[in-house]
Amino acid sequence: MKRLHQIAGLCVFVLSCGAAASAAAGQAGPVKAALDKDAVCTSACHGASWRTPLLSIYQTRHGNKADSRTPGCQDCHGASVDHRTDPGKTPDVVFGANSKHISTADVRSAACLKCHESSVLPRANWTGSQHQTRGLACTTCHNLHAPDQKVLSKATQAEVCFTCHKTQRAQTRRISTHPLAVTSLASAAKMACSDCHNPHGSPAPKMLVKNSVNETCYTCHAEKRGPFLWEHAPVVDDCTNCHTPHGSTNAPLLKARAPWLCQECHSGDHGAQINSGANLAGGNVTTVNGTLQPGAATPRAQAAARACLNCHVLIHGSNHPAGAKFQR
Ligand code: HEC
Ligand code: HEC
Ligand code: HEC
Ligand code: HEC
Ligand code: HEC
Ligand code: HEC
Ligand code: HEC
Ligand code: HEC
Ligand code: HEC
Repeated sequence: MKRLHQIAGLCVFVLSCGAAASAAAGQAGPVKAALDKDAVCTSACHGASWRTPLLSIYQTRHGNKADSRTPGCQDCHGASVDHRTDPGKTPDVVFGANSKHISTADVRSAACLKCHESSVLPRANWTGSQHQTRGLACTTCHNLHAPDQKVLSKATQAEVCFTCHKTQRAQTRRISTHPLAVTSLASAAKMACSDCHNPHGSPAPKMLVKNSVNETCYTCHAEKRGPFLWEHAPVVDDCTNCHTPHGSTNAPLLKARAPWLCQECHSGDHGAQINSGANLAGGNVTTVNGTLQPGAATPRAQAAARACLNCHVLIHGSNHPAGAKFQR
């Protein structure tokens, strides 16, 4: 019983914290002024009894009224003078995806960019980015009244991206993949799409976080950067010559298995004649009822097991004086 009282007391405390108008009472100067400005909306209609929990915005970083850069209702939704006198009139900026009065994407984003384009946590490459030009707005991914944003957590971010990027969703479900969150295995999320991409746009191709594919990969796989005494040209050129970043049926994240992977480029070399599974084994192979007989020659090293990699082990480059062919 005592415990119940404590819980009830806590609830009242939390609720009154959320209610801007009443919280304004004991506050000093600028904080009070900011909350009073919000009260134009919160004490009129959009208070604790509104159909959605609007006041939870005070529990987010947009609720930190002690920081003078923090937006109030009117910074995002506009002063909405007409709407304040006649609630039937549309506010200046409507974000809600379910509203038939939803503002255009550029109007919605402009409300954010006045702070976030160049001053607060800048997102300077948004305008002209693939997402902006294809009609996304900031609030396509960010929902701002909720205390938790899916898109800001490694465990749930990919879900947001996957609502549109179905190809990448399918790829990350393959046997070999980066440890991204898959819905069933959210706890395994060691990284997120945003470790490689900047969804706000970037000067690099494919909105990569660094200037090139390789620079992006080196942020984690630093040992592949070299410098190597003997470099393998396609590695220096672009990791995606051989790897696919999102997922593959060939471990480790390879576009194809050796020897076929290598033969895409090395067609004139000693491994080139091995093109099909039929000559996986060398010499005169005899079979009875489809089974290899004892005495059959050992499979060709160029095709069996790790194929070309049986001998060319240091495929990303070698520092051995005699490593020109990446064998040591
Ligand atoms: C009046 C300025 C202002 C406006 C307008 C504004 N923000 Fe912010 N925003 C801030 C400040 C200040 C912070 C906190 C920065 C800090 O903590 O360093 C912030 C933080 C954020 C964060 C980080 C939140 C977190 O929980 O980590 C996101 C995301 C964000 N804003 C998105 C938006 C979006 C989307 C819009 C438009 C709907 C918007 N902001 C409008 C000033 C603004
Ligand atoms: C395609 C989805 C998407 C869109 C659209 C988007 N964001 Fe983000 N935003 C993210 C993701 C993912 C993160 C977390 C990773 C990061 O910081 O890049 C993030 C992070 C942020 C942060 C920093 C949060 C922090 O704590 O550092 C701010 C600020 C922000 N976004 C503002 C904006 C603004 C402003 C716009 C519109 C101009 C916008 N976002 C559009 C996905 C998006
Ligand atoms: C940082 C920008 C920002 C600020 C500040 C902000 N809002 Fe919002 N508001 C949004 C966005 C974005 C949505 C769309 C829903 C969401 O993302 O949570 C929204 C949705 C709404 C809705 C529609 C909810 C519904 O039931 O459909 C109302 C009403 C609203 N805001 C009122 C307010 C009031 C009142 C304040 C001040 C206490 C405020 N907003 C402060 C960005 C903001
Ligand atoms: C509302 C749908 C939508 C959401 C959500 C979304 N995107 Fe996109 N994204 C697009 C569209 C549309 C394009 C334009 C290219 C295309 O046609 O695929 C695009 C393009 C991209 C590109 C490729 C750019 C290029 O040069 O081809 C990357 C990378 C990307 N998005 C990453 C992300 C990430 C990461 C997230 C989640 C944080 C995300 N997207 C969320 C719709 C979306
Ligand atoms: C390990 C780094 C890495 C991670 C993590 C990653 N990507 Fe990518 N992504 C890339 C690279 C590199 C490219 C460009 C080369 C390519 O398409 O293979 C790319 C390309 C893309 C493209 C454009 C594809 C096209 O055909 O043009 C989209 C869309 C995309 N990624 C979305 C995502 C989404 C969504 C996530 C999270 C589930 C994600 N990526 C995670 C590295 C990454
Ligand atoms: C944010 C860090 C990060 C970035 C950036 C990154 N990776 Fe990874 N990569 C990882 C982690 C973590 C693993 C998993 C290692 C493990 O499971 O032991 C991994 C594993 C791999 C593997 C081995 C997969 C396997 O099944 O063993 C390959 C290949 C790979 N990454 C290639 C790339 C390429 C190519 C890029 C650039 C497009 C890249 N990575 C960018 C973190 C990263
Ligand atoms: C010429 C094809 C090729 C290119 C280009 C390539 N790789 Fe690889 N990578 C491979 C092969 C083959 C394996 C498997 C090696 C094995 O099984 O011994 C591998 C394995 C890996 C692994 C997991 C095993 C390990 O060695 O750590 C990582 C991580 C990796 N590559 C990262 C990269 C990065 C980063 C780049 C770009 C700088 C890159 N690769 C470019 C062929 C390539
Ligand atoms: C995207 C094309 C490409 C792929 C895939 C590729 N290579 Fe290469 N490789 C090259 C190029 C280009 C050179 C440099 C040739 C030169 O300098 O004459 C090279 C050089 C080599 C060399 C040294 C050749 C010499 O004459 O010094 C060896 C050995 C080699 N590759 C083995 C492999 C193996 C094994 C694989 C598969 C795991 C592979 N390569 C995959 C393009 C590729
Ligand atoms: C049994 C070990 C072995 C296997 C398996 C093997 N190689 Fe080699 N590879 C060598 C040797 C030895 C050389 C010659 C080294 C030298 O001349 O210094 C060589 C040289 C090369 C060269 C350089 C061209 C030249 O003539 O010097 C290329 C390219 C090459 N191999 C590609 C491949 C490819 C592709 C595969 C798989 C289809 C493969 N190798 C499988 C041992 C092997």
